[in-house]
Amino acid sequence: MQERRIRTDRVPRHVAIIMDGNGRWAEARGLERNEGHWAGLESVRAVVRAAHEIGIGVLTLFAFSSENWSRPKGEVQELMRLLDHYIEEELDEVMRNGIRVLTLGRLDRIPPNTRKKVEDAVARSAENREMILVFAVSYGGRSEIVDAARKLMRDAEAGKLDPERLDEKTFAAYLYQPELPDPDLLIRTGDESRVSNFLLWQIAYTEIYTTDLMWPDFRKGHLVDAILDYQSRERRFGLTSAQVGSGRGGGRTEPV
Ligand code: FPP
Repeated sequence: MQERRIRTDRVPRHVAIIMDGNGRWAEARGLERNEGHWAGLESVRAVVRAAHEIGIGVLTLFAFSSENWSRPKGEVQELMRLLDHYIEEELDEVMRNGIRVLTLGRLDRIPPNTRKKVEDAVARSAENREMILVFAVSYGGRSEIVDAARKLMRDAEAGKLDPERLDEKTFAAYLYQPELPDPDLLIRTGDESRVSNFLLWQIAYTEIYTTDLMWPDFRKGHLVDAILDYQSRERRFGLTSAQVGSGRGGGRTEPV
């Protein structure tokens, strides 16, 4: 296989992934949908490892959306079990690799045993500095914005915030994980081109990469494809090309 090289000075700091297509992957093989989710867990393992090797700073995985609560009960239970299982099986490796675990979403809705496991992982890994792995669980972008607005209104009522001084930076400080940088790259598998209520505030200037691969087929090489595609783009943030300079040529590269 031809050697591929990633530009080390333009590795996306934050990659977010909508892991879509588990159900269709399973159905195409005459399997139960839940078997697709279990197969998707292998991709999660591979991609977390790969992200760490590549030097990505933050990896956010959309594990369960607010809307997913309306799926059949058996599927919801299985998805919770999967999260449980991932933490049980992978936490040692996560710790060895210096990865910090964080969550994003309304965790109060998830079963107490799963919640406890997730919270323990967050607490145990709190001092890790090599990479941040964020599980978006029971997460919806609109709910996040509404929750932020609620907290903000309470602060305004308490006289801690002057509505006239509210700006984007102040608002963003009320989101679930305000210290994280916005995603540079959003990957969506499963041959769909939708944002599906994911990180609505944070993806204002995120580069979006979609692929027709179903999530259980996604591996390191596909993450590299997405990063190389990202590195070929010019991010202008509303400015002109001349203002931002190309930034696309040159730079140090590393084989992957
Ligand atoms: C979308 O596929 C995927 C999900 C709703 C869940 C994602 C969960 C995993 C990949 C399992 C492991 C996760 C963690 C973080 C431990 P879909 O069911 O909507 O697929 P479809 O569109 O083909 O029906």
